[in-house]
Amino acid sequence: MTASQDKRVETLRWCDGHLEMIDQRVLPAEFRYLRYDSAEAVAQGIREMVVRGAPAIGCAAAYGVALEALRQRDASTADFTGRMERAFEVLAASRPTAVNLFWALARIRTRWQSLASQSVPAQADALLAEAHEILAEDIRVNRAMGEHGAALLADGARVLTHCNAGALATAGHGTALGVIRSAVEAGKRISVVADETRPFLQGARLTAWEMVQERIPVTLITDNMAGFMMSRGEIDAVIVGTDRVAANGDVANKIGTYMVAVLAQRHGIPFYVACPISTIDMSIADGAAIPIEERAHREVTGFRDLQWAADGVLVRNPAFDVTPAELVTALITERGVIHRPNRERLAALTATP
Ligand code: MRU
Repeated sequence: MTASQDKRVETLRWCDGHLEMIDQRVLPAEFRYLRYDSAEAVAQGIREMVVRGAPAIGCAAAYGVALEALRQRDASTADFTGRMERAFEVLAASRPTAVNLFWALARIRTRWQSLASQSVPAQADALLAEAHEILAEDIRVNRAMGEHGAALLADGARVLTHCNAGALATAGHGTALGVIRSAVEAGKRISVVADETRPFLQGARLTAWEMVQERIPVTLITDNMAGFMMSRGEIDAVIVGTDRVAANGDVANKIGTYMVAVLAQRHGIPFYVACPISTIDMSIADGAAIPIEERAHREVTGFRDLQWAADGVLVRNPAFDVTPAELVTALITERGVIHRPNRERLAALTATP
């Protein structure tokens, strides 16, 4: 795929002084952009999953800060500072698991601190430029991961993926699907098996849609079919994305990923995690300390307006699970492939900025 084809899925875009984001809640039935003007509105968009996927959430949060700065460009320095602090707070509270959100907020805060001696309008303009750079960098990182990861896939590989770690989950190209895209660009015949990914159906609604758009062969299965497919020799590799990797290599990703990793080990199938370095959280010792988001019960008891479970039933809805590092064959990063990730290897990988 060429850079211009990448443009087909612009998950977030800057348009006439506003942020626009594809409304991922309504795909694939409807393709529409929603427009955002404030940090509060962007935080709501993240919480309600208009935008989702770790790197895309990070980009959205950076734009949320920039939008707030632009909104307050006529404010006094004191008012500006107070409103900006509030913007950081509301964005940080939008979703807890994907560390890219906090990574992007920390990065844009550092930039803001470096602008202290400048006028409020100059600060606002510089923060918008930083948000644009975070977005552009994400695409570059995904392309680099794609190149490293593509080398792991044989011509003809049948690759299972879980959730959506594609262009829709990033600024473009994708992480796990970016590896698949890059392998296809390199001339390999790759086919994808997409887990539907209950309860939010990111696999059925988003991954299948992305692959169909690009004519990459994709087969949709329900989550409980992965073991059957593996036992019949129909899967050659698993590639997933991640929301946060702990210092010891434990991987948080969409609920159900752990199940897939256990199955992959049982069947001797490599389990790869496409992981930008911004997703590695060296401040968290292991996966048990990664905050796991619990979402609304109605996502499990039904979908949209349809409810299929009895009123009054008890429900759990953890949105992510943790795959222990020992089940991970390799992390695919923009700096290369880290086989059998552990504390020492991640420390070496993240040592230089
Ligand atoms: O709840 P979501 O849809 O934001 O969860 C997304 C995932 O779990 C992705 O696999 C992860 O963010 C990696 S995206 C490149």
